Amino acid sequence: MSSKKGMHGAWSSRWTFVLAATGSAVGLGNIWKFPYIVGENGGGAFVLVYLLCILMVGLPVMVAEVMLGRRGRQSPINTMRYLTEQAGLHGGWNAIGWLGVVAGLMILSYYAVIAGWALHYIGHMASGTFQGVTAEQAGSIFNELLADKDTLIFWQTIFLLLTVIVVTGGVTKGLGMAVRVLMPLLFVLLIVLLVFSYQSGDFARGFSFLFSFNYEALTWEGVLEAMGHAFFTLSLGMGAIMAYGAYMPQHARIGRTVLAVGLLDTLVALVAGLAIFPIVFANPTIEPSSGPGLMFVSLPVVFGNMPGGLLFGSLFFVLVTLAAWSSAISLIEPAVAYLVESKNFHRITANLLLGLIAWIVGLGSVLSFNVWSESRVAGFNFFEFMDFLTSSVMLPLTGLFIAIFVGWIMRPQAVREELSDESDYVFFRWHWIVRYISPLAILVVFVMGIYKTFS
Ligand code: PHE
Repeated sequence: MSSKKGMHGAWSSRWTFVLAATGSAVGLGNIWKFPYIVGENGGGAFVLVYLLCILMVGLPVMVAEVMLGRRGRQSPINTMRYLTEQAGLHGGWNAIGWLGVVAGLMILSYYAVIAGWALHYIGHMASGTFQGVTAEQAGSIFNELLADKDTLIFWQTIFLLLTVIVVTGGVTKGLGMAVRVLMPLLFVLLIVLLVFSYQSGDFARGFSFLFSFNYEALTWEGVLEAMGHAFFTLSLGMGAIMAYGAYMPQHARIGRTVLAVGLLDTLVALVAGLAIFPIVFANPTIEPSSGPGLMFVSLPVVFGNMPGGLLFGSLFFVLVTLAAWSSAISLIEPAVAYLVESKNFHRITANLLLGLIAWIVGLGSVLSFNVWSESRVAGFNFFEFMDFLTSSVMLPLTGLFIAIFVGWIMRPQAVREELSDESDYVFFRWHWIVRYISPLAILVVFVMGIYKTFS
């Protein structure tokens, strides 16, 4: 077994962990994905289910992941191996680590494609393409981009290279530094957008779309998507948070740290939604349910028509790229850490190899927006299939195993010992939720959602 402590360096403080975990959590999931899946699922009721999932499943599982990571102090695969060996358990529990690493690479494959759109939009914004555009024009500019596979591949490649470079720098240098300045800046800009959208969009309709509970729009497929997104947006169920937990100082309080990350993440998603939907409703040519293009069509209309919009717009897409960047880092880090620990890889070679795999798989997503747009597997195109398989299947399943592992398999004393800095009040409530509520909720939603999706 590899040595337990200090292989990958450690965060300089609890605060750096909060920043890094927030950097991982806040990304395309909040700004790009959350608004469009809310739109596809009819609004309010979906948002409520999503918030419940964050509270009852996401945050408890996040505490569990950080705790496991800190106890194991290695890559997720070796952490799970170490913990199962230590407890004399069946090796099957290692699947938690493996499933996660594979899911991370699969997510990265299409994540890089979407981040490439954002990269491409920086130049579009700066060069004035969107000056004074209407929603219709913004829509056709976006469709032109989707049809052009060479451009998509170009930006996907650039984004993956950026990711590989930072991760090669290692945790303390590369990852820690990348998030310090960027996250606060992104948040400020979202607030600016919100103010503009309040002034110039149909704010009342946007608001009520997000927050009024229209029960009829909700389906089991939607509930599964909401739960899957709770995992996705908090970076859970694939080892990212476990890997970051491995670099967490021993005496930092996990509970409040996780709460801070969860709050920030949720706030960013809701503000993004509040900035986008008023614009959507003020422009009849944009459908709330228009899918992955939602942000790329609605926001250019805002920027193109606001004073200083070209500057703000370019800055916005720079920041979205950076947010995606700090998330992508955490998608690849667990696999890199594993190859370095166990297979004697150099960090550079590990990164290049994994980046290449993500790139090749990502080509499938690129093509699903043009050449393969008509090909369907079980009703999904390639990109949708990858997204469904990872967010709605792999992440929740890994989350389920983690909840069961921590709630039922690990000795309660061992869990208590690792979380000794928490009060009894917090600990016992958390342990109860992770034992009963989270696994049951995941199981019911997963079974019903899958059944409805394929029936
Ligand atoms: N949480 C990131 C986002 O919302 C995506 C992500 C998922 C990152 C899983 C790491 C692990 O964009």
